Amino acid sequence: MKRISGLKFCGFGRATGDLAVTNEDMEHFVDTSDEWIQSRTGIHSRYYAHSRSNAEMAVEAAEKAMREAAADKRQIVYLIVCSFTPDCATPPVACEVAGRLGLAENVMAIDLNGACSGFIYGCTVAESLLQANPIKSCASVCQTAAADGNIQKRLEGAKESYALVIGSEKISPLLDMEDRSTCILFGDGAGAVVVKYDENKRFQALCGCIPNQEILYCARFTPVIRMQGQEVYRFAVSKVPAAICDLLEFSEISADEVDYFVCHQANLRIIDQIRIKLRQPEAKFFRNIYEFGNTSAASVAIALCQMNEEGLLREGMRLVCAGFGAGLTYGVMLLTL
Ligand code: UT7
Repeated sequence: MKRISGLKFCGFGRATGDLAVTNEDMEHFVDTSDEWIQSRTGIHSRYYAHSRSNAEMAVEAAEKAMREAAADKRQIVYLIVCSFTPDCATPPVACEVAGRLGLAENVMAIDLNGACSGFIYGCTVAESLLQANPIKSCASVCQTAAADGNIQKRLEGAKESYALVIGSEKISPLLDMEDRSTCILFGDGAGAVVVKYDENKRFQALCGCIPNQEILYCARFTPVIRMQGQEVYRFAVSKVPAAICDLLEFSEISADEVDYFVCHQANLRIIDQIRIKLRQPEAKFFRNIYEFGNTSAASVAIALCQMNEEGLLREGMRLVCAGFGAGLTYGVMLLTL
């Protein structure tokens, strides 16, 4: 039997690194050209978090998302920070973010490393937690409200529990500036969404992992990103469209009925191959890789926020989001606004 699930996306936010780095700037570091980078990837610039931490970007994005959702801090019962570039191994970035945001003590603060699929993994986990664990959701709000001695507030609060899902990456310190096929791709940034369970808002996800330690990795004690670009490319253009087709078939929706496809911004040519395989028009594929480059787990979240800012998102629209990357992980999700 198909599981009925739902997630309402209530607020969006984003933040970038503080240093804009164009392809022309890259030409000073490495033997490359704006022409090569743009024609092979679609990237023109990216932002580096020169003097900002991962947590600082996550907090800025989260504050915007919470403002738009008009979510009280005490209503955020799950905080999931999706990242492969935490500021330190422990404590989790999510704990620092919870502290800076002033969230309630019993928020469950999780770091989730799903590489470039992280944000899709994170939304999937959030939806499951909000749906399957209402007691935790209630308990969290109740306890805080009870401390105020306000029973009515406690009951009202229990009805409205939210999860905050953030994709946040500070990748620039992990780049080998002599590896021209990799360093030109990545940028830093964060995107955040505030979500709550709503059975009227369809949410369906399909996530997976094809274990591989060699194609794309970053070792802990010699932390530099190593990537066999063509292998990742092949993985992405075969697995992602197949996963989207499986998701749509399971959801009994055709690609034509999807309003927008929001793919991980890794390479414009990958996005285009996915589009061609799904036989969809260019206008349905949002792109911001030109400005931001590849921000890994932040990429889809930043794209959603930008679409929202540009007035592209309307109530009732159907979106398919897709992530893929190291692991090799992939994740696709169908959501209704
Ligand atoms: O977030 C998920 C993870 N990442 C991805 O999704 C990345 C997927 N892969 C890709 O996007 C592409 O494979 C790259 C953009 C990384 C590389 O593009 P490519 O078309 O696969 O290039 P290539 O590695 O086959 O290299 C072609 C040529 C080589 O020169 P020769 O051997 O033909 O003389 C490279 O040395 O291009 C050269 N090259 C460059 N030239 C100028 C590689 N990088 C550069 C560069 N500037 N930055």
